[in-house]
Amino acid sequence: MNLIELNAIAKKMVAPGKGILAADESTGTIKKRFDKIGVENTEDNRRDYREMMFRTPVMKQHISGVILYDETIRQKARDGTTLVKLIQDADSIPGIKVDAGAKKLAGAPNETITEGLDGLRERYQEYHKLGARFAKWRGVYEIAEGNPSHDAIHANAHALARYAALAQENGIVPIVEPELLMDGAHTIEACEGVTEWILKEVFQELYYAGVKLEGIILKPNMIVPGMKCVQQNSVEEVAQRTVTVLKRCVPAAVPGIAFLSGGQSDLDATAHLDAMNKIGGLPWALTFSYGRALQAAPQAAWAGKVDNVAKAQAAFTHRARMNGLAALGKWDSAAEKNAS
Ligand code: 13P
Repeated sequence: MNLIELNAIAKKMVAPGKGILAADESTGTIKKRFDKIGVENTEDNRRDYREMMFRTPVMKQHISGVILYDETIRQKARDGTTLVKLIQDADSIPGIKVDAGAKKLAGAPNETITEGLDGLRERYQEYHKLGARFAKWRGVYEIAEGNPSHDAIHANAHALARYAALAQENGIVPIVEPELLMDGAHTIEACEGVTEWILKEVFQELYYAGVKLEGIILKPNMIVPGMKCVQQNSVEEVAQRTVTVLKRCVPAAVPGIAFLSGGQSDLDATAHLDAMNKIGGLPWALTFSYGRALQAAPQAAWAGKVDNVAKAQAAFTHRARMNGLAALGKWDSAAEKNAS
């Protein structure tokens, strides 16, 4: 393992004013997004849609890296250029989702374990040849009737650590993503308590697996109430609680934390990130690794029509700029309205 190289990649992923585009939706997940905008889920449509984003000039200013799905990392643009090269030409780093999804965890009703460790060393070697310099693996947890259990928290932390150690062995920076879902009616206090437990366990397992923290990026959920909770909290409270939990759990050796949006509105995801960066004085860079909060607007504008490409690219540009400002703590509602 070359920790200096891994650290350099990780730092580039969280460079000031830049963040990560999570475009790694599986074929099933992108179908759900395409269904909403009336687009057929074909290989060509998936390619056209992603090519449209990767060719947007804003990539160079605000997108440090792109998480790809197995199909996408092998795909070519209409003119024959690989999509990986389009990303590299924008001075952005190609990354790859390597987990095989969350499957039922035996003995733990309604809980999941993320699979995909078998053969992962060889897959990393192939992905590295294809241009990937970072990877992503997502553990999923839900607050509901006594869950998450210690079993699920421990099993997922252990899998994340094994995935991360193998990534570093192969010259790839692991994005370590433990996601406590926003589904449900739990309070912000419940989210805070459970997230702290999850993160403590994840960092303990990373240590046992010999993962070097200078060569990872953490991708956590923010501390927010469940979507169905009657009490929704202010932007400042979400920011304050999130930073408090991260300070308790994340060693300063970690170069950066890139949040998932997790079903927050576009505006909330931007406002929360901005408010955290306005707090300042933090040991790690805080930025975005958004899927929905970067893509919902361009998807709606595009709707699968060539004529809409310029509009869709403008929508993507705007969200990337707003989140770029939020990553610096320099966003405000005036900038939000100024969608030029
Ligand atoms: P969202 O921002 O839509 O939560 O997606 C990020 C991601 O990569 C989830 O694994």
